Amino acid sequence: MHRDIEKVLITRDQIRARVAELAAQVAADTPFDPGESDDGSLVLIPIMTGAMVLTADLVREMPFKLRMGLVAVSSYPGKSMESKGAHIASELPADLEGKHVVIVDDILDSGHTIAVLRELVARHNPASLRVCVLLKKERDDGPSVAEADYVGFSIPDEFVVGYGLDYDGYYRNHPEIVTLKPEAIEA
Ligand code: IMP
Ligand code: MG
Repeated sequence: MHRDIEKVLITRDQIRARVAELAAQVAADTPFDPGESDDGSLVLIPIMTGAMVLTADLVREMPFKLRMGLVAVSSYPGKSMESKGAHIASELPADLEGKHVVIVDDILDSGHTIAVLRELVARHNPASLRVCVLLKKERDDGPSVAEADYVGFSIPDEFVVGYGLDYDGYYRNHPEIVTLKPEAIEA
């Protein structure tokens, strides 16, 4: 795996520190019932599979009652490095009405994934709806169609892998955010 890596954009230590900050911000902005610091009203919706590493680290920095309901969205099938449009491939978690919902994803790129999911979740009348991503890509061809409320790091318009992000299903387990050598990527 290491021989496929071109350069490291974000190190393990940088990610660890930033994820703790994100968790603290999400918690601080969640209007829990007065006098009861964990009323169980927070629901995280991690978008599989990219958000699994971030979510695992995020929730362990959130020491209060919360629920998680995964959704599957596919936008980069196979060896594609360009979004093919977002398709929700699973049902939303139940009982979102009146809850403080936070959609979690690895990266905000074109924004279509977040836009589609935001709209679907909003139909269930959550008390609040926020989006948390580790990365936001500063795209050369203009801004994305959705915004995130919490962004770990902004990155240049490059294809990256690691910490949940994949190329053709691989490299999600790499603990840093890296780019791949051209020869590791099939044309
Ligand atoms: P969007 O709908 O274009 O915002 O795409 C978001 C999804 O595309 C993310 O959930 C990722 O799974 C994937 N994605 C976008 N950029 C990258 C990248 O640089 N590397 C790996 N996956 C990416
Ligand atoms: Mg994804």
